[in-house]
This record gives sequence, structure tokens and C-alpha cells, in this order.
Amino acid sequence: MIQPSYPIRTARLALRPVTIDDLDDVYAFQRRPDVVRWVLGAEPRTREQSRASVLAMAGEDAWRAEGDCLTVAAVTDAGVIGIVELVWRSQLDRTAELGFVFHPDHGGRGLATEAATALLAWGFDEFGLHRVYGRCHCRNGASARLMGRLGMRQEARHVESYRFKGEWADQLVFAILAQEWQTRTPPS
Ligand SMILES: CC(C)(COP(=O)(O)OP(=O)(O)OC[C@H]1O[C@@H](n2cnc3c(N)ncnc32)[C@H](O)[C@@H]1OP(=O)(O)O)[C@@H](O)C(=O)NCCC(=O)NCCS
Repeated sequence: MIQPSYPIRTARLALRPVTIDDLDDVYAFQRRPDVVRWVLGAEPRTREQSRASVLAMAGEDAWRAEGDCLTVAAVTDAGVIGIVELVWRSQLDRTAELGFVFHPDHGGRGLATEAATALLAWGFDEFGLHRVYGRCHCRNGASARLMGRLGMRQEARHVESYRFKGEWADQLVFAILAQEWQTRTPPS
């Protein structure tokens, strides 16, 4: 079993595993249509659906085997303001996939970037990942810009590669290698 030393502390955040006590905070953003607007298969959640989601995330505190998702809550004095996750996609290729969801009330301040940076630092510097990638809908500008701020390169635009809300959608793929992570210029 491999996990970060919790809490991971950044300048403005503490990152730690999700607990059932986070239900109110998580539901506050999972219930919003604007939060799930560009997320495949996601609809605004009911409180009961958020409870199931929080219970599932609460078990995602470590990587035990390939395929596992490591999920951390981003916490400020206001409570849990977002979630960042790293899915261990390949043990052989030392590759993971990054995901993130933040409450819009706390957007636009670089907090998601700060949280994702800390999780990537764990993945590359502690775990020894070789590559991290992320995917988003081509119209999810906030997600694409976030990955750009993290130093991820846009590697692909898969044109009309999937069905999204009844129409064909382009998917963007971003990635960063360990070597690029070590030499990146953090956003000022
Ligand atoms: C994706 C998501 C997490 C991005 O949130 P965000 O608030 O834009 O990201 P950050 O917290 O890093 O803030 C960055 C913004 O704040 C600005 N900012 C202000 N201070 C900053 C700082 N100190 N550091 C970095 N950025 C800062 C940036 O310029 C940027 O704004 P811009 O994108 O308009 O240029 C958010 O939009 C979200 O949760 N979306 C819904 C879920 C989703 O779609 N997830 C991705 C699925 S693929």
C-alpha cells in the first residue's frame, strides 16, 4: 500500500482523505449543474447520490493496486472546497490520470492548481511516476487551462471521439513526463 503522508500541506490548503463528515461540503458542489457541465456521464447529484460518492471516495486513501484511485479533499477554513484525484492507470508504465472538481465559489484563485500541483508532486517525487495525463471535453476551457498551468502539454485532440449529451464531442488529452515536471516553470 502506498499513500502520501497526510495531510499534504500547501500554502493555502490541507489535502487529506475524504470522510463521511464531508458530505455537506461535497454535496454543495456536486449538486450544481455548472460543476458537471462538461463531465462525461455526470448529472447534478441528489444528496443520497453524494452520500454514495463520498463513501466511495472515503475508501480511496491509497494506491494498493493498479487501477486504484487516490482521492484527496482540498480543505480550507471554509471546509472541503474541492476534490483532486490520481488514478493509477499502469504499474508497468508508471502512469496515472489526474482529475479535479472544485466548488465554483472558490474558483479563480489558483486553489485547484495549488492542490493538483501538490498531488502531482507526490506522484512524481515520492511515488516515482513516469507520466501523468488528463482528459477533458474540448469546451472545458477551465480544465484545459488548469492542465496548462500545471505544465502539461496538449498531446491530442481526439476529434468526435465520444458521445456527449447526445452529440459528438472532441476530447483533449494533456500530459506531463517526470523529466518535464522536474524542469517546469511554475506559474507566477
Ligand atoms: C476545472 C476547475 C477545477 C478549474 O477551476 P479554476 O478555479 O479555474 O482553477 P484554479 O483554482 O486553479 O484557478 C485558476 C484561475 O484563477 C486565476 N488565478 C488567480 N490567482 C491565481 C493563482 N495564485 N494561481 C493560479 N491561478 C490563479 C487563474 O488565472 C485562473 O483563471 P483563468 O482560467 O480564467 O485564467 C473548475 O472549473 C471545476 O471544478 N470545473 C468543474 C469540474 C470539471 O469540469 N472538472 C474537470 C473534468 S475534466
